Amino acid sequence: MNFVKSLSLSTIVVSLILAVTGCSSAPEVVNPYNPEPKMASLRASTGDNPTKMHFLVFGDSKGSPEFKNVLKRADALNPQFNITTADLVKTGGGEKGILDYQRLDQQGGWFMRKYPMWPTVGNHEEAGGEDAINNFTNFFSMEKAMYSFEYGNAKFIALPWPKMSEDETKLSWLEDELKSANGKHIFIYKHRPHYTVGSKKYKDVEGLESKTTRLYDKYKVKAVFSGHDHIYYRTKRNDTHYIISAGAGASIYKLKRVKDALANDVYYGMRTKKEIMTGAALYKFHAADGTITDIAKPMYYVVSVKIDGDKVSIEMIDAKTGKVWDKAEI
Ligand SMILES: [Fe+2]
Repeated sequence: MNFVKSLSLSTIVVSLILAVTGCSSAPEVVNPYNPEPKMASLRASTGDNPTKMHFLVFGDSKGSPEFKNVLKRADALNPQFNITTADLVKTGGGEKGILDYQRLDQQGGWFMRKYPMWPTVGNHEEAGGEDAINNFTNFFSMEKAMYSFEYGNAKFIALPWPKMSEDETKLSWLEDELKSANGKHIFIYKHRPHYTVGSKKYKDVEGLESKTTRLYDKYKVKAVFSGHDHIYYRTKRNDTHYIISAGAGASIYKLKRVKDALANDVYYGMRTKKEIMTGAALYKFHAADGTITDIAKPMYYVVSVKIDGDKVSIEMIDAKTGKVWDKAEI
């Protein structure tokens, strides 16, 4: 199925390009959900080499009605562009996939027409049948789920859902991309985290160094953003920051792996059954200094990143209230 062709007229910009000769050519259909043309406009308005920028990171909405509020907050923050950590649909392929992408169109179409939004692929985009990746590709007009782009003094690399540590071809692609960053800040975005304190099992999120994480360290990656485990988590392993931003609307998961946290890690999620039985609030936020704040209802959020020259700062922002829960220079 071709989503570009299936999008309603209101979501498609059709431009008739007249040749210099005066002859009309075939109409060119531009998919407004492809981030590249809007990014080109951004570059045109800020010059080639800005050293200041503002972008948001979010993921794991999976068709939840909460996604609308998350996007409202994202809009209020007025980023220049967005990167996502995937699972924006529940099922990417088959009949369900068609309906899920229609829902994404209805919920997020206005946002994706207004701002560049760079997608990546999660296990839910891959689920549902052989046409799943085609549906992703057609919806965003992105040829590959593994790609990179540059803006000003930063380079962004999108990685695929499957683990890469045993895939020499993909690792060598990644190394070439990292090598050619030439001193820019490097950000990775992908669905599967390398480290978590949430609910995902060890075979899914190993919490260990791998050939991939060693490449991040070797080439001084600034931060690796991921989704999948529906919590918030910020940790630093060796010199690389790992941030789970998975709070765009899908239900928040339990903090079952806090024993894997390092001192000064920051995390938010649902309490374990054992803790809840003691009468504690259902959710909690654990700050870098160890302070714990009770939260009664699930909080959805976005991560905001600002670059000013060498300085990179991040904030984790409550979608409903706008409260900044976590703030750090990384
Ligand atoms: Fe996932």
